[in-house]
Amino acid sequence: MIKLHDLYFKPFISEQEIDQAVQQMVDVISKDLGDEMPVFIGILNGSFMFVSDFVKKYPKPCEVTFIKLASYEGVKSTDDIQRLIGLTQDLTGRTVVILEDIIDSGKTLEEVHRIFKNENVKELIIATLFYKPEAYDKDFKLHYVGMEIPDKFIVGYGLDYDGLGRDLPDVYQLKTTQHMTNLVLFGPPGAGKGTQANFLKEKYDLVHISTGDVFRYNIKNETALGTLAKSYMDKGHLVPDQVTIDMLEAEVNRNAGANGFIFDGFPRNEVQAEALDRILEAKDSEVSAMVALEVEDETLVNRLLERGKTSGRKDDSDEAIIRNRIKVYYNETAILKDYYSAQKKYHGVDGIGSIEEITVRLNKVIDSL
Ligand code: IMP
Ligand code: MG
Repeated sequence: MIKLHDLYFKPFISEQEIDQAVQQMVDVISKDLGDEMPVFIGILNGSFMFVSDFVKKYPKPCEVTFIKLASYEGVKSTDDIQRLIGLTQDLTGRTVVILEDIIDSGKTLEEVHRIFKNENVKELIIATLFYKPEAYDKDFKLHYVGMEIPDKFIVGYGLDYDGLGRDLPDVYQLKTTQHMTNLVLFGPPGAGKGTQANFLKEKYDLVHISTGDVFRYNIKNETALGTLAKSYMDKGHLVPDQVTIDMLEAEVNRNAGANGFIFDGFPRNEVQAEALDRILEAKDSEVSAMVALEVEDETLVNRLLERGKTSGRKDDSDEAIIRNRIKVYYNETAILKDYYSAQKKYHGVDGIGSIEEITVRLNKVIDSL
């Protein structure tokens, strides 16, 4: 995900896919033109990357030039009145191939046709890398199209949003839903996730989803899911992935307008992490960061035994069960540290100290995202 000015864009077409599309266009066009020496004309600024890659791949001699759209001098560009400039070469009798980065409404193309009407070219061929069929409302023939794409704003590979994004080798698509801050709050049992989640949820206006709380609620009310979950939790084991994933997904969907979520106790393994990516992807979003509270084992055991005296949680009163929970946690979740580190989303936070001290540390990380 990237941010340009005020908007967020998500990866849409990779550099490799673009390269393949350009290569295909080169293959077809060079075959169709045979021994004809074409003049390729790029429409600036957007087409500079496409034209560059295209002519580098073009297997036969050719000429290359550029023209540009410019607003009429002295005219306020409220009603995009524009003209093409830069056509200085005599193109009489030549085969001209217009190389466009993108054809959207077709207004630019209309302008191209208007200007070439008087140029006496042998043939005017239109080739565009990207084409938005839903937006196009002209009748001009498009001879070659690299890729048809939906009518959504894209950036990268020459295309910009208000000056930014032209330099990106991949193409990104505008995110249509609101940006969310999604935190995975991580840490072994007793690390203080629940306590800190309450502060974070207030400060950043996020929805706190604690897997443990949701399961305990279900158990207390003896729902089918709760009864099933109880049998695992009493032994200090984790609840099966699919049960947890379905429950989490329902919880996310119930909070459609949320600014974001704090996931506490989820994901617990790579299968769940991948499921979470899919759940958030469907909402045009992603995990913003994994924030991990780091506390050593002995402190955890003492904290949990202390909590067990008052909470009445069976899994907090037996030291062997506690130690097993911590062991299970590290066995199954160490890999998540790698999973999120690989995406540069892992942030370790020292979980020893007063509640306020730890909150300050967490805020610092989140404010830096
Ligand atoms: P048309 O004249 O409406 O066909 O649009 C063509 C021009 O609009 C392109 O040359 C781009 O400059 C711009 N444009 C259209 N769609 C996009 C987009 O999705 N991203 C960035 N620029 C676009
Ligand atoms: Mg253009």
